[in-house]
Amino acid sequence: MGQSSQRKPVRKAVFPVAGMGTRFLPATKAIPKEMLPIIDRPLIQYAVDEAREAGIEQLIFVTGRGKTAIVEHFDMAFELETTMAEREKSLAVLEPTRIQPGNLVAVRQQVPLGLGHAIWCARAIVGDEPFAIFLPDELMIGSPGCMKQMVEAYEEVGGNLISVLEVPREEVSSYGVIDPGAAQGALTEVRGLVEKPRREEAPSNLIISGRYILQPEVMRVLERQEKGAGGEIQLTDAMAQMIGTQPFHAVTFAGKRYDCGSKLGFVEATLALALERDDMAEDVRAMALRLLDQGS
Ligand code: UTP
Repeated sequence: MGQSSQRKPVRKAVFPVAGMGTRFLPATKAIPKEMLPIIDRPLIQYAVDEAREAGIEQLIFVTGRGKTAIVEHFDMAFELETTMAEREKSLAVLEPTRIQPGNLVAVRQQVPLGLGHAIWCARAIVGDEPFAIFLPDELMIGSPGCMKQMVEAYEEVGGNLISVLEVPREEVSSYGVIDPGAAQGALTEVRGLVEKPRREEAPSNLIISGRYILQPEVMRVLERQEKGAGGEIQLTDAMAQMIGTQPFHAVTFAGKRYDCGSKLGFVEATLALALERDDMAEDVRAMALRLLDQGS
């Protein structure tokens, strides 16, 4: 029997959505950042669709106060569905919001102590299995999707995997950065990880981009609640401590990534996705050209 057939499959995914979204205030005062739509789907829907495409069965949302809209979004809206059905409107548009009963779990992060802490809040639900993590404000568009590419790599090498991409050197200090080892195709061995390094100290310009497959042992490291960059409990620091004890690889995502946690990235994603849609592309292109013309 091959080694890969003994690996536990990645069935669970954690979506940390308890951040305060300060960069989008006041929009995010009463609405979670993850519910902001790119055209007609909230950010969280893109992440959940990507998870399901990759074979994830159970969704674990780490939420906080004011985030209940996310859980509502994936509930069945009985009155809405009944009324739409009576009016003979298609319910197909709601299909992606349907989750099998029992496959959505929400846990609370009472205080936003950092991404590492948010992940640790899901430890009881994750249990003793490898699990995926999605940061929904990183919008990953690819075919197959980013997590599916990662699951395929996981089936080959096992252990821990993070998705990475190259950025200009001057941007590295905003991100988690990898110290790369040997590379083969899209897979690169990870020798070290550092969160928000100074530009001159960054080991590379390959940044962690919002998707992870981790082994449950990371929860034991997070249990120590050690604070890192910005006084927060950092996931990157916990992962760094796993290197050497378990296989650790980076997967270079073949696709496009939009940083929708920033306003510029959000606008770029909206335009780029609109320009790819059959029902909008032509009108949006004409509109963009008109606006650019007016601006000159
Ligand atoms: P960000 O650094 O983007 O923070 O978090 P944020 O609060 O969402 O947004 P800004 O920077 O204030 O505008 C990265 C991810 O980690 C989650 C966030 O929800 C986001 O998905 N997070 C962060 C938590 O769940 N809890 C935390 O304590 C911190």
